[in-house]
Amino acid sequence: MINTRMIEFRDIRDPRQQEFYGHLTPIECGQEIPFDVKRIYYIYGVDHAARRGYHSHRDLEQVLICLGGSVKIQVKTPYEEEIVTLDSPTKGLYIGPMIWREMFAFSEHAALLVLASRHYDESDYLRDYSAYEAEARRYFREAGEHPAVPHI
Ligand code: TYD
Repeated sequence: MINTRMIEFRDIRDPRQQEFYGHLTPIECGQEIPFDVKRIYYIYGVDHAARRGYHSHRDLEQVLICLGGSVKIQVKTPYEEEIVTLDSPTKGLYIGPMIWREMFAFSEHAALLVLASRHYDESDYLRDYSAYEAEARRYFREAGEHPAVPHI
């Protein structure tokens, strides 16, 4: 989908491949992450029935990583929508500007880590879907002249 894509992180395991040695996943800005990380936050302890998000950002890039358990992310524009399941610490979901997102179906103990390209700024949020839709139509019409946006 426009302005979103999956990122696969490395899974480094002990050369002997013994399960109890576990996994190590490195993440570097400029390598796996296409922006400099200015902010990190995590969401956890979410009830399975709860649904969060319900907003878009005007000018923010994020990568969402489910470090434990699983969660579903609905990403949406006025033109298309998709549901992505994050169920592995080696999977990241990149979300660029002007994408509506809702997070739901958090499993027990799910921990969702978010890497963000900018500091927290409430004025960057669009929290009303109708206002988002109008602004997103303008944004994607203009972006259509520069179609360098990645797809899932
Ligand atoms: P919000 O982004 O609305 O969370 P969600 O979309 O997952 O429901 O943020 C919830 C509250 O936390 C809101 O009052 C703003 C605050 N907040 C910060 O203070 N700093 C942050 O970096 C973030 C993401 C949220």
